[in-house]
Amino acid sequence: MTRLRADDLTLAYERRVVAENLGVEIPDESFTVIVGPNACGKSTLLRALARLLRPRAGTVYLDDAPITALPPKRLAKRLGLLPQSPLTPEGITVADLVARGRYPHQGLLRQWSREDEAAVGAAMAAVGVTDLAERVVDELSGGQRQRVWLALVLAQETGIMLLDEPTTYLDIAHQIEVLDLCARLHEEGRTLVAVLHDLNHACRYATHLIAMRGGEILAEGAPAEIVTADLVERVFGLPCRVIPDPETDTPLIVPADRRRALTAGKPLN
Ligand SMILES: Nc1ncnc2c1ncn2[C@@H]1O[C@H](COP(=O)(O)OP(=O)(O)O)[C@@H](O)[C@H]1O
Ligand SMILES: [Mg+2]
Repeated sequence: MTRLRADDLTLAYERRVVAENLGVEIPDESFTVIVGPNACGKSTLLRALARLLRPRAGTVYLDDAPITALPPKRLAKRLGLLPQSPLTPEGITVADLVARGRYPHQGLLRQWSREDEAAVGAAMAAVGVTDLAERVVDELSGGQRQRVWLALVLAQETGIMLLDEPTTYLDIAHQIEVLDLCARLHEEGRTLVAVLHDLNHACRYATHLIAMRGGEILAEGAPAEIVTADLVERVFGLPCRVIPDPETDTPLIVPADRRRALTAGKPLN
């Protein structure tokens, strides 16, 4: 049995049913990446796995117990979530926001410690925001803010990390930096689940890929085993070629150039 899994989920908001009979198992110590078109239910699934959304039916299990049975702090020590659009408390500084990741480690008898200080420092250094420590988070760029939120999840020091679009808003160098950091966390033995939009990054970094569409899982497995032009077309409706990535030999998706067909016969001015 895997540490994090869900059976027979129905996920819904009010009247909108996003997924039905959805089952998923996150392989232990995997770097799992979820891909799929906008609005297919990726964030909804992640929120359910983190207990932020109560399933209308079905059960999420963490360490073989229904996740609803865990006291909040115990859950937050095992599983951390980077939401897609986290709400930053007004006026908070970077260091204070990252420090909130230590909350589950504190208690009545255990106040702020040297260990907490070290975890916050290490988390800020890992995502390169140490120099921003005293800045107000609201006043940062989107990419800087994203890295600060990632630092909060790192400071939480959980064995399972769920990251909803951790690379959105980042320039390409920072995207690769964050993905390399994720790969390192994975190598250290953590289980990661990330939603990514860039299929080529997903194929490079994922040990386990989950392709969703319309609240269903259409395929899952190692990228090299499941990613074909046919799958990309079924999931995204995008005609493409899949060739070996010249750096890593993982699948590289090259969209077909439809402009040629669209402009055929028309003068290009
Ligand atoms: N808070 C909400 N209330 C109502 N509908 C929502 C809410 N959040 C998401 N949805 C809807 O649920 C569906 C799945 O959304 P989401 O899981 O965010 O998709 P994805 O992350 O794959 O882009 C979409 O149709 C979206 O409009
Ligand atoms: Mg989303």
